Amino acid sequence: MIRHFRRDDDITPAEQQQIIDLAIAMKADPYAHKPLAGPKSIALIFDKTSTRTRVSFSVGVADLGGNPLIFQAGDSQLGAKESIADTARVLDRLVAAIVWRTFAQSNIDEMAQHSRVPVINSLSDAFHPCQLLADLQTIQEHKGSLAGKTVAFVGDGSSNMANSYLIAGVMAGMAVRIATPVSYQPLADALTTATRIASETGGSAQVTADVAEAVSGADVVVTDTWISMGQEADKERRVADFAGYSVTDQLMSLASSDAIFLHCLPAYRGYEVDAGVIDGPQSAIWDEAENRLHAQKALMHFLLTASE
Ligand code: CP
Ligand code: NVA
Repeated sequence: MIRHFRRDDDITPAEQQQIIDLAIAMKADPYAHKPLAGPKSIALIFDKTSTRTRVSFSVGVADLGGNPLIFQAGDSQLGAKESIADTARVLDRLVAAIVWRTFAQSNIDEMAQHSRVPVINSLSDAFHPCQLLADLQTIQEHKGSLAGKTVAFVGDGSSNMANSYLIAGVMAGMAVRIATPVSYQPLADALTTATRIASETGGSAQVTADVAEAVSGADVVVTDTWISMGQEADKERRVADFAGYSVTDQLMSLASSDAIFLHCLPAYRGYEVDAGVIDGPQSAIWDEAENRLHAQKALMHFLLTASE
C-alpha cells in the first residue's frame, strides 16, 4: 500500500515516534541512509513561496542519495493546462515521491488519490504536517520526551500550524492548548480528530480565547504569523483582531521557567512575537528550522520503505 503524508494523522502515533527517533539518529549520522540511491528523483512543487521547505527538502533528498526536482508555481503544466490527476499519473512514472506546497487541502488529497508514489503535504491552507515533525523533534531534544508535556499555541487558531499542532501534538501524548480569538477557531475536523486521538494517547486538546490560561505552566510556547500566505489582503483586519495575542516577555513569564519558544518562521517581530522572546534565551527556533531537514529525511525514508 502506498503511504502518503497528506496530514498529520496519516501516520500512527507509534509511527510518528519512530520517525522522530529516526530523525534524531539521522542528525547524528546524516549520510548513513540511502533509500534514493540510483539516484531516484523526488518532485518538489511549490505553489507558494518557501525558504526552509525548499532548501531542507532539496538537501534532504540529496543526502538520501536522490535528486530533487523543483517546480515553482507556473513552471509546469499543472493547474491551468493539466489536471492534478493527469499530473499525478505522469509524475508517478518518473519520480519516487511528490512533495507539494499548495493552497487547498483537496489538491493534496486529489494528487494522493491518483499517485502510485507517496505524496507529501509540504504546507496547505489546512495543515503543515512536515513542520510538526520538526517541532516535535525539537521539543523531544530540548525536553527529553513528548508525552505529558504541555504546549500552548498563541495566535491564529484557524491556521495550518494550529490545526497541525492539535492533531500531531495529541498524537505525541501532549496537552495542546490553542489561545485564539473566538472568530479564528481551528478546523472542526482537526479539533474532533485531536479529541478522538487524545483519548487513545493520554493527550488533550483545548481551545480558549484566554492567552494567560493557555500559557500558564506550559513547557512549550508556540506562535505563527497572523497573516498566512494567501491572506495578505486581510492584513489590517487581522492585525487588529490579534491584538493581545503577541508572545511577549510578560506572557512567557507565565509559562514554566524552563519553557522553550518555537516559531515555524518566517517571523514578524513586533506582531505575533516580541524580539526579546524570539531572539532570547528560551527560543529554540534555529534548532527547529534545522530539524526540518532531519525530520523530512526520516519521513521520506519511512514512506518509501513502508510503500514498498
Ligand atoms: N516554516 C516554513 O515552512 O518555512 P518556509 O515557508 O520558508 O518553507
Ligand atoms: N501559517 C503560515 C506558515 C508559514 C510557514 C503560512 O501558511 O503562511
